[in-house]
Amino acid sequence: MTVRIGILISGRGSNMDAIVEHIREENAPVDVCFVASDKASAAGLETARSKGIPTATVSYKQGRAAAEAEIEKLWQEHKIDLLVLAGFMRLITGDFVSRHEGRILNIHPAMLPKFPGAHGIEDFWKSGESSSGVTVHIVDAEMDHGPILMQQEVARTPDDTIETFEAKIHAVEHQLYWRALKSYIQKLAQEAQS
Ligand code: GRF
Repeated sequence: MTVRIGILISGRGSNMDAIVEHIREENAPVDVCFVASDKASAAGLETARSKGIPTATVSYKQGRAAAEAEIEKLWQEHKIDLLVLAGFMRLITGDFVSRHEGRILNIHPAMLPKFPGAHGIEDFWKSGESSSGVTVHIVDAEMDHGPILMQQEVARTPDDTIETFEAKIHAVEHQLYWRALKSYIQKLAQEAQS
């Protein structure tokens, strides 16, 4: 059975791109049905298009409810099984989440519950703590919150600058998201069979 996913981004889309490449390399039975962004200028939209993936822009100008109605439409039109947030900088409402319980995943560049929010890497860096990491979790109605699927620690070394540390975080993200997504898909498939 092929699992159908949609991916939401807001910017560069490197996590989206990494997932697409892992699927292709492994010939995994996962269909990336669309990549959508709340920003028409998101570089990741062009990356997706160049790989032949349908793209869409979701407008938040008329408010969150209207935007989520557009996301819902994409969900239904493409009949997706899972929605993957990859650097999507908008909060998904409780209403939307409750319609799709356990079907929305997110990645965060810190060891949740530490350093939630839009500046997870900078906030860790300023804290002076010696290690942070990456979290993949199921989305609930709170920001950067919900059952954790996988975490991987990333240590800060004495020679790190915020730039080199950030590069380490992204390198881990690009492996971890696919590992977590793949194992979650397997879990859902097993549940469906039993
Ligand atoms: C990633 O660090 C992700 O964890 C965070 O936003 C960043 C998005 O990067 N939520 P990209 O757009 O996937 O390159």
